[in-house]
Amino acid sequence: MADLMEKIVALCKRRGFIFQSSEIYGGLANTWDYGPYGVELKNNVKRSWWKSVVYERDDIFGMDAAILMHPKVWEASGHLKSFKDPFIKCPVCSQFFRLDTIWDEIWNSPWFISLRETMRGDKDSSYLLHWAKTEGKKLAPNLSLVKEPEVTISWIADLHHKFGGVEFDFKTYIGRIACSRDGIARTPCPNCGNPLPEEPMAANLMLETLFGPVKETAQKIYLRPETAQGMFVNFINILDSKHPKLPFGLAQIGKAFRNEITPGNFIFRTREFEQMEIEYFVTPAEADIKLEEWIDYRFNWYLNLGINKDGLRKRPHSKDELAHYAKACMDIEYNFPFGWSELEGIANRTDFDLKQHAKTSGKDLEYFDDAKKEKFYPYIIEPSGGVDRSVLAFLVDAYFEEKVKDDLRVVLKLHRDLAPTKVAVLPLLRNRPEIVELAKKIALDLKKSFITVYDDTGAIGKLYRRQDEVGTLYCVTVDVQSLEDKQVTVRDRDTMLQERLGIDKLKEYLVTKLIS
Ligand code: GAP
Repeated sequence: MADLMEKIVALCKRRGFIFQSSEIYGGLANTWDYGPYGVELKNNVKRSWWKSVVYERDDIFGMDAAILMHPKVWEASGHLKSFKDPFIKCPVCSQFFRLDTIWDEIWNSPWFISLRETMRGDKDSSYLLHWAKTEGKKLAPNLSLVKEPEVTISWIADLHHKFGGVEFDFKTYIGRIACSRDGIARTPCPNCGNPLPEEPMAANLMLETLFGPVKETAQKIYLRPETAQGMFVNFINILDSKHPKLPFGLAQIGKAFRNEITPGNFIFRTREFEQMEIEYFVTPAEADIKLEEWIDYRFNWYLNLGINKDGLRKRPHSKDELAHYAKACMDIEYNFPFGWSELEGIANRTDFDLKQHAKTSGKDLEYFDDAKKEKFYPYIIEPSGGVDRSVLAFLVDAYFEEKVKDDLRVVLKLHRDLAPTKVAVLPLLRNRPEIVELAKKIALDLKKSFITVYDDTGAIGKLYRRQDEVGTLYCVTVDVQSLEDKQVTVRDRDTMLQERLGIDKLKEYLVTKLIS
């Protein structure tokens, strides 16, 4: 599965979907640029979301708030005080690890995978000793088992003695192989094996910047860590300009920034990313039911765009996982090559945000119910998804390798609404000017209706493979016969079936396939 991730990253670079940012300078870690196909795919994801939550409903208004906001916003929202991830820094290799995921990182670390494979459940300490002196030395040079194998092995023997035939858990075992002479169980560094400090540190995850041209007088402000606050602070403007009745919502797509401790997994966790968020205002009494409705609505959006249902699941947050503002939250998770991970969270934020902003700004942010003649703070249901994570999930889900005769075909079977290019027009013989001219004319005509490309840079087999790799839905081939019978061959990306069609019927045919 890790292999699949490597293939996708390679395809993205090779075909112009996603590049490492500032690559010519060695790259800025975990920062990515979307290339020609990537930007189309990303825009299609955003367009499909907007269509589903704004255009196809009549209870949601779109908006686009500024990234830079008054610093008081972050005081009111609780981000200044609570938006912190406890982390641990290895004193030897200086790597950072999030406290909540440290054991997963150890489990998936190269040295522990190697140790697991060597031991295969065997308790024989001679294997441990051998591993410590060979692979262990290379992969985890600072692990106690590697530095003082005899001492550590004696602690493990003690463990076997204590537990007898009863199995002990992975954390107890790891604690022992990280023990030095004092015999105190420690958490080893997932990178180098060195015992980590007991006390975690906490860092605020918001990125700071200076607002104003002169450093001495500039104001310290933040790059927003979520788009949500831009909608809360505009609640009253929407009431005054649109006069909506509850329930109604606001939707926006935009950049957010977080100083993540452990960014990684390609575009999955980055410090600059895009969110697609809805803030849906409801009466407190209907909050639970609306939360359920939104969970289903959003789950179905991924399914309708072709995500395999076995790769998608809902996972409720446990009480200790909930963000400081949330009463309940359901994650929609996708089974990425690196495991089940969050695509989107749908939370009941209660009246926390409006009350906090009312208190901090001194403004009246209550809703007036005309019928009941009462004022109250609405509750907020918030479906909050990541654009980049969705792009990654759609790419992973659409990636197929198929054997075609003696050849391997890589194809992105992206949903028709997401595919960056809908049609490619290809001349069978690029050295025949009449064929090239006709192909270009057809492409130009189709461009008015669909994202269409013209390509004559290779033999037809190669051109098909290239279009398959970027998910182009239909290839239209113009050949010698086309000059005579005014027909072309249309090839379907997924089935690879070809049919002959009159040029005058082509647009109508594609409209039925792509738009209906
Ligand atoms: N307003 C609520 C909120 O921001 P969140 O769960 O922190 O909630 C919502 O973020 C979504 O934003 C996540 O489900 C994920 O898709 C995306 N996201 C969050 N942090 C991200 C990061 N560092 N990189 C990429 N996407 C991220």
